[in-house]
Order: sequence, then structure tokens, then C-alpha cells
Amino acid sequence: MKILAVSSEKGGVAKTTISVHLAHAAYDKGLKVLLVDFDTQGNAGMMFEPPDLSKTFLSTAVLFDEKPSNMPIEFVKPNFGIIRADKEALTMVADSKTEGAEFRPLEALKQHANSFDICIVDSAPSRAFLLYSSLVLADYVLTPVKMGKFELDGFAELIGDITNIQKSGINPRIKHLGSIPVKINTRSSKQMEMLSEFKSTYKKSVLDLCLPEREAVQVAINEGRPVWSNVRGASHKKTAIEWRDACEAILNMVIKG
Ligand SMILES: Nc1ncnc2c1ncn2[C@@H]1O[C@H](COP(=O)(O)OP(=O)(O)OP(=O)(O)O)[C@@H](O)[C@H]1O
Ligand SMILES: [Mg+2]
Repeated sequence: MKILAVSSEKGGVAKTTISVHLAHAAYDKGLKVLLVDFDTQGNAGMMFEPPDLSKTFLSTAVLFDEKPSNMPIEFVKPNFGIIRADKEALTMVADSKTEGAEFRPLEALKQHANSFDICIVDSAPSRAFLLYSSLVLADYVLTPVKMGKFELDGFAELIGDITNIQKSGINPRIKHLGSIPVKINTRSSKQMEMLSEFKSTYKKSVLDLCLPEREAVQVAINEGRPVWSNVRGASHKKTAIEWRDACEAILNMVIKG
């Protein structure tokens, strides 16, 4: 099982939207997929039917237990597992900052490694414990980034954190797949100028992919479905293809390693 984290220290840069789409795209490719929500907001789980409350499933907070739990994983459909963020319990985990707890999710997930081909981790915003833990866990990290003064501020630190985690041996496996520019207003010359400046500054760290601001994405998220389902009209079709192609390219980078 390969683990891909979608991470940024910034809020609202489409981490959850991308994570959920990658999970659907991996499933559609015939891969066994596990989606893990590392954010106390629990947004990734909201994109699916609520769980059967008569059953207890593995939640993200439990991944941080000292001993790996034998609770079962919830499946939204066969070959599509999900580990939801339990807001209160995960907030307690994040606040407790128990020494060494960041290494526990990897041990917990190893127990399920043979049941899945790919695990997608939706990281929490802010350079704090939960984001750090998802980087400690991941084999690959994808960093969505928006073009804006505030959004770009701190980007270099995140790349630095990833490099430090790798070089210090905390997680020698981690590989930065690259940054994907998101929510770009392609009609704004200022945004396009910032994008080209960003690309020339970070060169090889920027993927040759882009997910512009599109109404169809917002609508799909509100309806709890991937943007390539229930396609209506030419502009929606264009967005569906854009997202399919981007997810396919990212998944291929992970699968081919
Ligand atoms: N390409 C896009 N075009 C238009 N809207 C988008 C696009 N990508 C994401 N959005 C919307 O932007 C909002 C924020 O996206 P999302 O929740 O995925 O970001 P996030 O990085 O996970 O946020 P947080 O840091 O709060 O977890 C959502 O309403 C989502 O529907
Ligand atoms: Mg999110």
C-alpha cells in the first residue's frame, strides 16, 4: 500500500477536494483505496453517506493509540475504505502532543497494508501536529497551492519541512511529488503572472498540472459527488476532463513510484 498525503499549511486550497477526487479516481482504476481524514473538520467524510452508527469503525484519532487497534475499517463500497476524523477525539490527540505519537498511524495502518493498494491522506491545515503526522506517515506528498500573497507565504517553509523530515531520517521514504496550482482565475492577468513567477521560482517542485477555479467543482462538492459524475454542458465536461486527467497523472506518479 502506497501512502499519498495531500498537504498544505494553508486552509481552503482544495486539499479535501483533491483527496476525495483522487480516491474516486483510484477506485475507478480498479485500485483498492483507503481514504484517511487527518483534519479535525472531518470534511472528507462529509463527501460520503454517513456511517452506520450501530457499528464502530476505526477513526483517525484511534490511529494514534499507543497499541494498534483491531477495530474494523468502514467501507463506503467494496474496495473503498474510509477512516473518518472524529472531531473531538482528534482535537484531543492534536492538543495532547504526546511524544512519539506521530509515528503511531504508520504502525496502525501497516496492519491493513495488504487490503489496499493506495491510501490517500487528507491533511489538516496549519503547520502543527496533525499536518506533521501526515508527513511522517506518507510515502508521497502533493502540495496544492493558490496564487496569492498570503497563500504563497509559508510555502517555502512547508517544502523545507518535507525536506527536513526526509533528510533527518524521521521519514526517509517521503517524496514530494510536487505542487499543483489550484483555484487559479485563468482570466486574471495578475494571477497568471503570479503563476508564472511561482513556476520560475520553484521550477522542478511545480507539477505541469493546474486545477483552475471552476463553478462545476463547487457544485459537485456541494452535491457530494466527483466533478466527473452527472456531467451537464460543455464547460462542466471540460472541468470533468481537467480533473480526470490531473488525478490520472498524479496516481500514475504514485503507482509507478
Ligand atoms: N477548482 C476549484 N474551483 C472552484 N472551487 C473549488 C475548487 N477546488 C476547491 N474548491 C472549493 O473550495 C473550497 C475549499 O476546498 P477544500 O475544502 O477542498 O479545501 P481544503 O484545503 O481542504 O480546506 P481546509 O484547509 O479547510 O481543509 C470548497 O468549497 C471547494 O468546493
Ligand atoms: Mg480540507
